[in-house]
Amino acid sequence: MSLHIIRHDITKMKIDAIVNAANSSLLGGGGVDGAIHHAAGPGLLKECMTLGGCDTGDAKITGAYNLPCKYVIHTVGPVWHGGQYGEKELLRSCYIKSLELAKANGCESVAFPLISSGVYGYPKDQALRVAMDAISDFLLTWDMTVYMVIFDKAAVTISQKLFSDIKQYIDQAYVEESEVKYSRNRILAEMSTSAPVQYCKAIKPEKSLEDIIGEIDESFSQMLLRKIDELGMTDAECYKKANIDRKLFSKIRGDVNYKPSKPTAIAFAVALQLNLKETEELLKKAGFALSRSNKFDLIIRYFISNGNYNIHEINEALFAFDQNLLG
Ligand code: APR
Repeated sequence: MSLHIIRHDITKMKIDAIVNAANSSLLGGGGVDGAIHHAAGPGLLKECMTLGGCDTGDAKITGAYNLPCKYVIHTVGPVWHGGQYGEKELLRSCYIKSLELAKANGCESVAFPLISSGVYGYPKDQALRVAMDAISDFLLTWDMTVYMVIFDKAAVTISQKLFSDIKQYIDQAYVEESEVKYSRNRILAEMSTSAPVQYCKAIKPEKSLEDIIGEIDESFSQMLLRKIDELGMTDAECYKKANIDRKLFSKIRGDVNYKPSKPTAIAFAVALQLNLKETEELLKKAGFALSRSNKFDLIIRYFISNGNYNIHEINEALFAFDQNLLG
């Protein structure tokens, strides 16, 4: 159904399966491996001892014992040696093999730690990119709710370059916003000391009343469905690209006056790859605007104006800036 990035302790998650970043012996260790074995109790180690280890890039499943989840999927990530030794392919395989095992055991919800990004030294931003790409590829075909669990706040989850680009974009927008505010205040100050008539003659309505009413005619869901048709997309392609689950989409399709949340409305604008103007038009149908004065809106503006419609990359950036996620 959808992919979420959350800050949590994976051992506390009450879902179908959690994934353990183990080593090839499967006999426990430090990091998340240690935390999972500690929370599960001795029964987990006993079962792991019957599995005969696990190859790097592969995954094996056990019960969860004292953990609140139903299964533990143990996978062995690659040790980072600089990126020239197949680490990316092996890491991707950890996610795909774990998801396939979860599906084979009827799991509908799975949580991953950032595999190999601790003791095994895989750079966190690259480890997250590999994870999100692998999981989102799997979710294009299969329905499952997947959580990417980031444990330590310090975890830099996007590249420094992307982080500073976005930060610069936000700072620039704040500067422009305050300049606009300054000149608006100056005009208002001047207006208050001069004859009002010359200003009200100068302001001319951009649109006639019937134009404005005409715009109101098409609802959010009507515009969304029209755009899906115009782009020749299927419903499933659209809601999967929007990181929205099927149930929510059918609610929107079934109610012409459905009012989505702002992150949901933007998620569809991203899935449809709308430009900024069309995005603002779609948002307006749901009663929202894209302002220039808050981080969330500015990060969305940054990605759309750069033509980057990868909703998971956008969510990684929103997560890195402590903002709500899309979908
Ligand atoms: N919940 C979620 N994530 C956690 C938790 C937790 N309770 N504890 C640690 N993590 C995160 C770390 O912050 C890191 O981002 O899990 C990620 C993976 O780090 P490691 O646990 O060190 O795993 P990895 O880098 O794959 O190294 C595996 O370390 O623990 C040993 O036996 C393990 O030898 C194996 C090696």
